[in-house]
Amino acid sequence: MKTIIEPFRIKVVEPIRMTTPDEREAALREAGFNLFNLRAEDIIIDLLTDSGTGAMSSEQWAGMMRGDESYAGARSFYRFYDRVRQITGFEHVLPTHQGRASERILFELVGGPDKVVPNNNHFDTTRANVEHSGARALDLVIAEGRDPRSLHPFKGNLDVARLTSLFEDVGADRIPLVMLTVTNNSGGGQPVSMQNLREVRAVCDRYRTPLFLDACRFAENAFFVKKREAGYADRSVAEIVREMFDLADGATISAKKDGLVNIGGLLLLRDGELNQQARNLLILTEGFPTYGGLAGRDLEAIAQGLEEVLHEDYLTYRIRSTEYLGEKLRDLGVQIVEPPGGHAIYVDARSFCPHIPQDRFPGQAVVCALYRAGGIRACEIGSVMFGREEPPSMELVRLAIPRRTYTQSHVDYVLEVTAEVYAGRDRLRGLRIVEEPPALRHFTARFEEL
Ligand SMILES: Cc1ncc(COP(=O)(O)O)c(C=O)c1O
Repeated sequence: MKTIIEPFRIKVVEPIRMTTPDEREAALREAGFNLFNLRAEDIIIDLLTDSGTGAMSSEQWAGMMRGDESYAGARSFYRFYDRVRQITGFEHVLPTHQGRASERILFELVGGPDKVVPNNNHFDTTRANVEHSGARALDLVIAEGRDPRSLHPFKGNLDVARLTSLFEDVGADRIPLVMLTVTNNSGGGQPVSMQNLREVRAVCDRYRTPLFLDACRFAENAFFVKKREAGYADRSVAEIVREMFDLADGATISAKKDGLVNIGGLLLLRDGELNQQARNLLILTEGFPTYGGLAGRDLEAIAQGLEEVLHEDYLTYRIRSTEYLGEKLRDLGVQIVEPPGGHAIYVDARSFCPHIPQDRFPGQAVVCALYRAGGIRACEIGSVMFGREEPPSMELVRLAIPRRTYTQSHVDYVLEVTAEVYAGRDRLRGLRIVEEPPALRHFTARFEEL
């Protein structure tokens, strides 16, 4: 059949509160034109993030009831540990409350002044944690990964020649590890190929430097490998996932994505010595190593989620439903980052409103317009998020799709609203920041419309 259906039935529903244009205008002004400051109740379709916003399955909820809340050595930890070990092969598995906690522990141990950390593209919290340690975060994605129009099938790939030059220029002793973000969130949710992973691994081996994955969306990346990379069509997603992790010395993971849960994270390590140091830091701020800032019930939900995310029916529906939104936006004439990513569609805000200069935040203007027109919350990934020091290469608006949460008619509504905003795009106005914190300003900055 051509129709790919949601491979689940809906058992519990959460009503959406409909809002009027006047209510939205008032809410937007109250929020200082920053949609992170809105009350979620004032939103009709929330595409701010795919992180922690998905729906859990009946088996995950059943696991929540089975959660063992013992402080140390809980049964739920061992269920979690066994599942992670089975999927990834890692012996050292630390639970954390979310991805950035894993990043904070890792970079406190390996970062520091004078160090340089290369990545295809650092996600904002990864960059912030690298920089917080005093190190420099460097983005080395391939040139096609910076071109919204390029149809390269693996635009998340890291530029291996630039990585080699970096090792030659700064020396391996200043590069504590190389990171690869799969899929590459800040670069449009684009996958990394197995071939690129192997090539990066070879460079790391040559310079005796560990390779780490930022593996929040490991299953979506593996599914793209299966669909797009020669030689993988007949391999199961689980096998591809295992091959990806086998190439790495460690991984930071936010379970709020492909863990299919609302909270949780992991730090995976091969090095026993580093693991010991990480455990000590974990105890200091997260919790005992058999719960790491999570409840036993959360560990149960993650263990189950990690199993469900490898179901190929689920991944077929997941990737196709994101692609559907991308295709229809393209039909409206909206330039998106091509090809559609795994967890989100990224609209090119520069071509959406070319009359708004980069320092007047075209992405934020689009985000505000989508909210005004239809109560949709999207996320600016451009100069607000990354442009504090220098302008980023792309000005994007991310429409992230929560997992198993919205149906096709919700997506059709998003398309109708976007069509209306696009038709009146000449009237969109830029913004000016009137208040901002020293780091991660996109979360709390306040704006004024020009
Ligand atoms: C690629 C990537 N890395 C790290 C993180 C941080 O994870 P968390 O939000 O769980 O701290 C995210 C979250 O969106 C992400 O997309």
